[in-house]
Amino acid sequence: MCGIIGYVGSRAAVPILVEGLKRLEYRGYDSSGVALVGSGGLSIAKAAGRISALEQVIDLDAPQSLGIGHTRWATHGAPTDINAHPHADSSGRIAVIHNGIIENDRALRTYLERKGVVFTSETDTEVLAQLIGQLYDGDLEQAVREALREITGTYGMAVVCADEPNVIVAARQGSPLIVGVGKNEHILASDAAAILAHTTQVVFLGDGQMARITPDDLKLTTLDAMPVANDVEKIEWSLDEIELAGYDHFMKKEIHEQPASLETCLRGRVDTREGVVHLGGLVDCARDLVRAKRIILTGCGTAWHAALVGEYLFEELVRVPTEVEYASEFRYRNPIIDDGTVVIAVSQSGETADTLAALKEANQRGALTLGVVNVVGSTLARATDAGVYLHVGPEIGVASTKAFTGQVTVLALIACYLGRRKHMSPAAASQFIDALEKIPEQVAAILAQADKAEVVAEAYCKKDNWLYLGRGNNYPVALEGALKLKEISYIHAEGLPAAEMKHGPIALITEAMPVVVIATAGSQYQKIMNNISEVRTRGGRVIAIATEGDREIAKIAEHVLYVPDTIEPLQPLLTSIPLQLIAYHAAVLRGCNVDKPRNLAKSVTVE
Ligand code: AGP
Repeated sequence: MCGIIGYVGSRAAVPILVEGLKRLEYRGYDSSGVALVGSGGLSIAKAAGRISALEQVIDLDAPQSLGIGHTRWATHGAPTDINAHPHADSSGRIAVIHNGIIENDRALRTYLERKGVVFTSETDTEVLAQLIGQLYDGDLEQAVREALREITGTYGMAVVCADEPNVIVAARQGSPLIVGVGKNEHILASDAAAILAHTTQVVFLGDGQMARITPDDLKLTTLDAMPVANDVEKIEWSLDEIELAGYDHFMKKEIHEQPASLETCLRGRVDTREGVVHLGGLVDCARDLVRAKRIILTGCGTAWHAALVGEYLFEELVRVPTEVEYASEFRYRNPIIDDGTVVIAVSQSGETADTLAALKEANQRGALTLGVVNVVGSTLARATDAGVYLHVGPEIGVASTKAFTGQVTVLALIACYLGRRKHMSPAAASQFIDALEKIPEQVAAILAQADKAEVVAEAYCKKDNWLYLGRGNNYPVALEGALKLKEISYIHAEGLPAAEMKHGPIALITEAMPVVVIATAGSQYQKIMNNISEVRTRGGRVIAIATEGDREIAKIAEHVLYVPDTIEPLQPLLTSIPLQLIAYHAAVLRGCNVDKPRNLAKSVTVE
């Protein structure tokens, strides 16, 4: 997702803008730029590529104390200098940066061209800049307001004007914006990570809201110019949580943070003695949740894999029909939502366009909607009837790791919360919670042997096709392990329910193919051992994830990575850890950009 930063105050803007853009790099981008306003008017500098390319073309000592900056992830138009943001109007007095997509940009472009406007870029954002330029008559806020009334689509945007050197106008519709409140200064951003170095006091803009920002004032209105008063909230994250803290990569840091992040995720939410889960965010809708006749879990990518683990948890503990839907499919499928349907949207960022659209569809059709999300105050968190935050801290690496185990943990908590209100006995709930409380220390035990995963990665990182197999609760983990490997090492990998191998993919097995098999103790252990034998007889190289103490598996697998024993519904929290580590080390060994994989963004805020 693109990144937005803006500064207005008494300090030089450039260092703040550049540092803010660097903190937004993790979201993925392919060009960047800044616009400054001062006594000399408006100046714009931008460049394709990394922010280091931008630093070559800007005056790092520029005196201006008002500016906006942007990292772009190309949607309309290639990642070039010309298409990079900010975009100016033809007069060269107005500059715009924008996250989102303007759906009616072609019609507006044609309209403006007929009025004599000459476009320089292929972007939809330039259409916005030119439209504002056409409407500007001395009041920037009013010109933006009138322009946005003509826009169909999504935006998180900021605008500056040479004639108003103390003003940033911002507006939000479907793409997040927050304003950091400092001493005689304000910092606008699309993500708290860009603000934390300056203040933890922020105001979240809501959809359909505009902000007129000066050093000493933050005026919020609706698009219809009605005043609004949003609370000033405190960001709980600390700066060191969004910094590397000595690790080589954010992904490695976040993998190793999981004992602590899962502790935090569970803190205050479980009572083993009473066999009770406390989820304050669900109290107001608990009665409706308990009466649910059907549960739909939805999300994208890793969040969808966590939702698939959730399906097993809900059907096991809550005994209510549960299904999992890709958000991108659910939103266009004319879904059947009837009385007693609960839709749970799962997300790390809370800004994924498809997930938000699926949630909007569910809300419009009358479902009770819950959010399972990490970013506090995110669009998803504000669009659901209720929800539970992951509380795993900021996840900077594009490949989701601690958010995955956080999502699964929260889904396990919700399943136990509802199960206990239906038919789970206190003893059964206590046993489940007891197992859940042991997970953080068990994850730490797995991480203590992280070097064994590196050995596996070294052995097979040059192989270009891997297979991941799992059964039952570990089938979603096979999908997640394959995704991790694909997205950061660019090795092709496919996850399958182990029994499905015989229905075609077994034709792929050769001695060149690493096959990761999740073969932990459980109800399908013997079946999965049979699958391993099927792979081996065809020369496949088996990498097994097994339960500590299993001596049989070492006889039939080339490599075995052990995890502690736990109840089957919670095994994904442990079996996913070695797969995260294998993917991480394979990517490093292949010289890939682990935290910013090619073509990927941390949050996919466009369709
Ligand atoms: C996972 O490693 C990927 N980064 C991606 O699949 C991600 O899980 C997906 O885009 C959903 O993002 P969200 O959790 O922020 O909604």
